[in-house]
Amino acid sequence: MAEQINNMPNEQGYFGEYGGSYIPPQLQVIMDEITESYNEIKNDPAFIEELKYLRKHYIGRPSPIFYAESLTKQVGGAKIYLKREDLNHTGAHKINHCVGEALLAKRMGKKKIIAETGAGQHGVALATAAALVGLECDIYMGIVDIEKEHPNVARMQVLGATVVPVTRGTQTLKDAVDAAFEAYLKDPVTQLYAIGSVVGPHPFPMMVRDFQEIVGIEAKEQFQEMTGAGPDALVACIGGGSNAIGLFTAFLEDDVDIYGVEPAGKSFKEGEHAATLTLGKPGVLHGFACYLLQDDEGQPLPVYSIASGLDYPGVGPQHSYLKDIERVQYKTANDSEAVEAFYTLSRVEGIIPALESAHAVAYAMKLAKELGPDKSILLNLSGRGDKDIDYILANYPPED
Ligand SMILES: Cc1ncc(COP(=O)(O)O)c(C=O)c1O
Repeated sequence: MAEQINNMPNEQGYFGEYGGSYIPPQLQVIMDEITESYNEIKNDPAFIEELKYLRKHYIGRPSPIFYAESLTKQVGGAKIYLKREDLNHTGAHKINHCVGEALLAKRMGKKKIIAETGAGQHGVALATAAALVGLECDIYMGIVDIEKEHPNVARMQVLGATVVPVTRGTQTLKDAVDAAFEAYLKDPVTQLYAIGSVVGPHPFPMMVRDFQEIVGIEAKEQFQEMTGAGPDALVACIGGGSNAIGLFTAFLEDDVDIYGVEPAGKSFKEGEHAATLTLGKPGVLHGFACYLLQDDEGQPLPVYSIASGLDYPGVGPQHSYLKDIERVQYKTANDSEAVEAFYTLSRVEGIIPALESAHAVAYAMKLAKELGPDKSILLNLSGRGDKDIDYILANYPPED
């Protein structure tokens, strides 16, 4: 089984029954071109060298692993280690796939890269990569998120990207994806839609995973070097699932428990959470099959999370598959647990996490207590919280 997991997806982009490509024929032609170009460059020594160079000298990889000793003491249980993706250039894991996607777009002769963004981290990372390789860049963003994540909006503008406000629906991530898809359909020839997570039609879930896999490859070696053993558990938050699959991939065949953490929002009432794998059912969204929070007609339900990067009604097809085969356990953390973890990590370690990553911290704190002091947890700290500070201070001011 393990070997099979690492050979996925199949040629049509399926992870078991999930993934694939549910798109109009004219777009399928373009997706086939992207798949072909990607399969070519991923084995091209010049591309491999360029990516390696940029990872080291531009992104700042390898990102370190940090033993969060004070957090561990405060929680009283398993040792918690952080993979510091927050220290990457632009402040999150998103830059790992954006540099790859931008290089691919350039190689394919595209003029512009476009994308959706929720928290603004993918938008900033893509605007950065576009500036680096010399491409135009449009970023679609819901106006609720524009308001909440305004530091990232300013960064995208400074980087030369156009931020396109999305006013439909709940004015958040799913609506931004809808708008970006529509814009892409109008001109899939000169533009490349650089999807921001392991979602969308084939080859994106595979390609974004491949660009993120470096996180787990590094972490495995670093953890072994630091502790002389492998971790007992892995923890990462799940929006579409790119930071999680980035950490998990290198460990899927190992003897380690793996946990993905979804946002439980305000409650498990419809529209107040985005716990897709926990409460969804298989369906189709944005051109691929996955677990989906949906109504009786298969239409996506409104979703919510305090973390703009997590409020998506679908989830990566590989995560959907890993849930079904029970290789990964999918848990939840709610808004108030995330805010508490946000403050705790800031106060005891001097590390301000992104609200998305704070969901993983919240769950790891619970898990550490359950596991006890002989065990270890490796957590993917997917991003830093600078973008969230104004929002948190205005809505959840510190109590002291
Ligand atoms: C810091 C951070 N972590 C996690 C996520 C969620 O995305 P994914 O599940 O693809 O890692 C986002 C999305 O914006 C993010 O900005």
